[in-house]
Amino acid sequence: MSLRLRLGLLFTLGIAVVITMAGVAFLAQLGSSLNTALDETLRARADAVTTRLAAAETSAPPSSSGDQRGDHQGEFSESDQVTQVLTPGGTVLESTAGRAALLTTARLQRASEGSLFFTTSIQGEHVRMFARPARRAGREVIAAVGESTGVIDDAQTRARTSIWAVGAPAIAVAGFGAWLLAGAALRPVTRMRRRLANITEYNTGARLRVPRTRDEVAALAEAMNGLLDRLQHALARQRGLVADAGHELRTPLTALKAELELAARPGRSRETLDNAISAAAADTERLIRLAEDLLLLARADEGADFLRAEPIILSDLVAASIRSSLAAADTRTISMKLDADPTTRIVGDPDRLRQIVGNLLDNALRHAPQGSTVEVNVRTTTSEGAPVAMIEVSDRGPGFPPEFLPHAFERFRRADAGRARMHGGAGLGLALVASIAHAHGGRARAENHPGGGAHVWVELPLHPSRARLRWALDAPE
Ligand SMILES: Nc1ncnc2c1ncn2[C@@H]1O[C@H](COP(=O)(O)OP(=O)(O)OP(=O)(O)O)[C@@H](O)[C@H]1O
Ligand SMILES: [Mg+2]
Repeated sequence: MSLRLRLGLLFTLGIAVVITMAGVAFLAQLGSSLNTALDETLRARADAVTTRLAAAETSAPPSSSGDQRGDHQGEFSESDQVTQVLTPGGTVLESTAGRAALLTTARLQRASEGSLFFTTSIQGEHVRMFARPARRAGREVIAAVGESTGVIDDAQTRARTSIWAVGAPAIAVAGFGAWLLAGAALRPVTRMRRRLANITEYNTGARLRVPRTRDEVAALAEAMNGLLDRLQHALARQRGLVADAGHELRTPLTALKAELELAARPGRSRETLDNAISAAAADTERLIRLAEDLLLLARADEGADFLRAEPIILSDLVAASIRSSLAAADTRTISMKLDADPTTRIVGDPDRLRQIVGNLLDNALRHAPQGSTVEVNVRTTTSEGAPVAMIEVSDRGPGFPPEFLPHAFERFRRADAGRARMHGGAGLGLALVASIAHAHGGRARAENHPGGGAHVWVELPLHPSRARLRWALDAPE
């Protein structure tokens, strides 16, 4: 069922309940007012009868025969009124409604003790009665007066009919109005839905028109446009990555092809063949590394799930990474200095953390001048009020070009793209460092030393959040 129909039905139901309740309350009030008025009339008539009986007592002695007026046995007088004077024992002394007593013995008893209202039936018609004690010829009698409730019943029936006659169409009109209103209110939503359905990956620049109403629908349109902005940005980034990856793959693949073609030419010497094969192997190595980095970045985008976490003594892990880089450092006569706090422990993925340290050392060794020292620090500190483990790598090279610093951790970003490609750097090393740090709940930063040289550091939380602890504990063996 559509929202519009539901709103219309709900409103109709609400109006019906309100009109019914108002009608019932009105009828109850009407009945009560009419009954009160009738009771007042009856009381006044009873008073008049009582006064007449008392006056008759003083002016003329009453006949003992029990003057029975209005001798219409079982009939109403013209005005639908009845009057009866009875002895407390039930003998009818006067009556406009036949000889039969209109009060039972019990009612006579109660009437003689005070006064009494009751409703009885005469000739199948409801009659409201009032009885009270009076005096007639020195004797105690009961004066009873009554009046048909026909007028009240008629008034209530007419009121009920009027309420139905006005209420039912009012409910129908209100429901229809609500349906129309809901349709008008939901029209912009329908327009937005249609427009959204037409937005695909080929027209990512399309946006929803934000109504000038400043209401919830306008807020929804703005939120949707925000989402479309983010999706467009993500898609552009993704497309850029694919283009960059293709570009990066093309260089070693072209070189590989050239080397293989060269080797395949007839009359190649053994030495030329060896050189071609080792160059092809180096290019293949580069391709494998690039593919692995891309794969890892794609998995890192999925969050912490790709990590296999365990408790780690960070100084041991960094020392092992430094040992692996010693050969590369030696070839450039660069020395490495480690200053590590042996108590720094974290929960993390050792393979990925080794990759972080390896990438940072690789960059530092590539940029540090010959004979200089690359310094590595491992310590526990606080960042934004939370305890973190920090791995810092500093070199004495040229540092990052200042305009490049904000982009250093972006994928396929290199300060000197041409030169880096010649040396085999794809520009994924720092992007991986940032992604792995982020997956651990940490972050990576870079700056230049005031005295020159790059300073890159990674912060990893000592106490990963509950969610991260869960992956740490649930991690498969
Ligand atoms: N220690 C450093 N000193 C100066 N510049 C650096 C340093 N480390 C990185 N850079 C600059 O940042 C760029 C990006 O570094 P990143 O590690 O992401 O890529 P790469 O080293 O070029 O390639 P890859 O790491 O994928 O082999 C580098 O190309 C280089 O220009
Ligand atoms: Mg690198």
